[in-house]
Amino acid sequence: MTALLEVEDLRIAYGKIEAVKGISFKVEAGEVVTLIGTNGAGKTTTLRTLSGLLKPVGGQVKFNGKSLRKVPAHQIVSLGLAHSPEGRHIFPRMTIEDNLLLGAFLRNDKEGIAKDVQRAYDLFPILGERRKQAAGTLSGGEQQMLAMGRALMSQPKLLMLDEPSMGLSPIMMQKIMATIAELKAEGTTILLVEQNAQAALSLADHGHVMEIGKIVLSGSGQDLLHDESVRKAYLGED
Ligand SMILES: Nc1ncnc2c1ncn2[C@@H]1O[C@H](COP(=O)(O)OP(=O)(O)OP(=O)(O)O)[C@@H](O)[C@H]1O
Ligand SMILES: [Mg+2]
Repeated sequence: MTALLEVEDLRIAYGKIEAVKGISFKVEAGEVVTLIGTNGAGKTTTLRTLSGLLKPVGGQVKFNGKSLRKVPAHQIVSLGLAHSPEGRHIFPRMTIEDNLLLGAFLRNDKEGIAKDVQRAYDLFPILGERRKQAAGTLSGGEQQMLAMGRALMSQPKLLMLDEPSMGLSPIMMQKIMATIAELKAEGTTILLVEQNAQAALSLADHGHVMEIGKIVLSGSGQDLLHDESVRKAYLGED
């Protein structure tokens, strides 16, 4: 059986600078896979390439068995790959509800959309309570919830989350991680980029450690969580 996402020897450059230097990994349907690693390792660059925002200089990406090489970004969404970007990128002057609806821009099944909006409110009640308010009035953590909710509105086969816990209080972070666990339990396939290695590895089926454009270590979430070099470098132990 082929994996839902197959990345093979992917290379990505900004001008002459190669930010991702040939990485390979897979995401099977139903799994949570995490990419962790230092600042500037190439995690965001990788996700932006998978969603078609950057063009790779080499390598292969297959989604559902199909090469993404010539597929433009908007069609990648329609194939079932959704991206909740680093820094959220919500539209602050639009209402929370309209931000959510943007995530469904490719759909025209009114009833299904209404059901999924309700589901986002069930996952994140604060979004429902404030649905008619401008999204810019939400706190950072609430905006993260909105970004996740919006990504889910396309009914993705693969949900990519770039640092969902960035800048959040410990309680907010726990809430976001609990929601990711809930989505996993429902069978959502997730590619999670996180600075919080402890939280990400605890949830993940598989993890990959990136350093300056390469994957330097791979394993199950639990193995990496207990790996000595990971503990030293990413979990603040000495
Ligand atoms: N638009 C750009 N132009 C030139 N270089 C860039 C650009 N965006 C990112 N880079 C560089 O590419 C490398 C990888 O960056 P990237 O944002 O993918 O890292 P990251 O792993 O997501 O880091 P962080 O954990 O800090 O978010 C870095 O050296 C970064 O400076
Ligand atoms: Mg990043």
